[in-house]
Amino acid sequence: MAILKIARMGHPVLRRRAEEVPDPTSPAIHALVADMIETMHDANGAGLAAPQVHVSQRVVVFHVPAHRAQADSLPRPEGLVVLINPVIEPLGEDRTVGWEGCLSVPGMMGAVPRFSRIRYRAAGLDGIVTTREADGFHARVVQHECDHLDGVLYPQRMTDMTMFGFADEMQKRFAEAQNADRD
Ligand code: NI
Repeated sequence: MAILKIARMGHPVLRRRAEEVPDPTSPAIHALVADMIETMHDANGAGLAAPQVHVSQRVVVFHVPAHRAQADSLPRPEGLVVLINPVIEPLGEDRTVGWEGCLSVPGMMGAVPRFSRIRYRAAGLDGIVTTREADGFHARVVQHECDHLDGVLYPQRMTDMTMFGFADEMQKRFAEAQNADRD
């Protein structure tokens, strides 16, 4: 296992459409996923896509921390989830704006509209394809990570760039907005 170097916005690997994985059960994919999990934990991320570690293949790892799923109506997946060749289908047109950061856009934060509810299917490391429905943070992290497989970073999904900035500034501002609501 190894901690891998994370590509930052501007690197061409983040702009490319990643390749389908022909065999999710291959030892090379198992080794890649182990390294991605270690890298994600080391960087304190909720998710990581293979292009972020300079591997242009359709592989994603993520987890949904319990505290991020409190408002979700659908059950959150327990533990780590590995998605190989994932495909997303939005369930309805409804979108929710929420804050996102990205290990490839370090120090920044933005408010991004995402489909509120999705269905997605993907192979696991055993090669078996499963389908899940997701809402809340779960739906957001899956859409964010799968975008990486198509060369899309979250700022490209934003509709209001005044909501993009340095994380410490935005958190200050976001807290101020909450305080203003309480006043
Ligand atoms: Ni990201």
